[in-house]
Amino acid sequence: MNRKKIVAGNWKMNMNFDQSNNLINKLKSISVKDIEIKIAPGFTYLQHAVLSLKTTNIQVLAQNIHFEEKGAFTGEISHEMLTSIGVKSVIVGHSERRKYFNESDKILSKKVKIAIDNSLTVIFCVGEELSDRENNKYFDVIKNQISIGLFDLEKKQIKNIIIAYEPVWAIGTGKTANVDQIQEMHQYIRKLIKDNYDLDSSEKIRILYGGSVKPNNAKQIFSLKDVDGGLIGGASLNFSDFNEIIQAVNG
Ligand code: PGA
Repeated sequence: MNRKKIVAGNWKMNMNFDQSNNLINKLKSISVKDIEIKIAPGFTYLQHAVLSLKTTNIQVLAQNIHFEEKGAFTGEISHEMLTSIGVKSVIVGHSERRKYFNESDKILSKKVKIAIDNSLTVIFCVGEELSDRENNKYFDVIKNQISIGLFDLEKKQIKNIIIAYEPVWAIGTGKTANVDQIQEMHQYIRKLIKDNYDLDSSEKIRILYGGSVKPNNAKQIFSLKDVDGGLIGGASLNFSDFNEIIQAVNG
């Protein structure tokens, strides 16, 4: 199955407006064959990013969304705030949201639902803690996150989901999962999709790896059978690192 690869940069809470703009201008020069490039700048720069990248095929992602339509939810971002400025995709379930903002699987399933119901593509993140891995609970943890987070969706909706497997112990630590651990988990996730939906959905869904992807390990990780690209944190803030990672897929 030929799945189009994705390299997505999650800028998290980094960069001011000028820095963000600078990086966006450099990204415009990247030339790729058949890859989707996405970036997730801070909320306050989203509209500017969408406009600046209009003539490129780089897509702008939001880092979060609220699960209600609209109303008295001070500080939150609705789906319409995103779609009305041209944002087409959103990251849901990042481990930093789960951990620091107490976003439970149930809350995340509501976020996924409102995003998908309103034509946003979702990058849905899952990942186990180090203790889960050490105690051999990692498959159960991922199964739980995926079944509560995604399995309320209908078969036609699962097409608009991209899954990112990001072991929490590998995020921002410089410690990547090894290739066997990555391939094993990606294959497992694909099987979960097959068991709950069907073979076609499981073959089409893109599964990204995230967690300390750098120029020196990207090629090896992206060449794994069930890895369809990456969600990149730290290395996406630096043009030459991000470009090298993209070229590792491009190559
Ligand atoms: P990292 O972050 O590349 O800095 O480890 C990945 C992520 O949080 O998506």
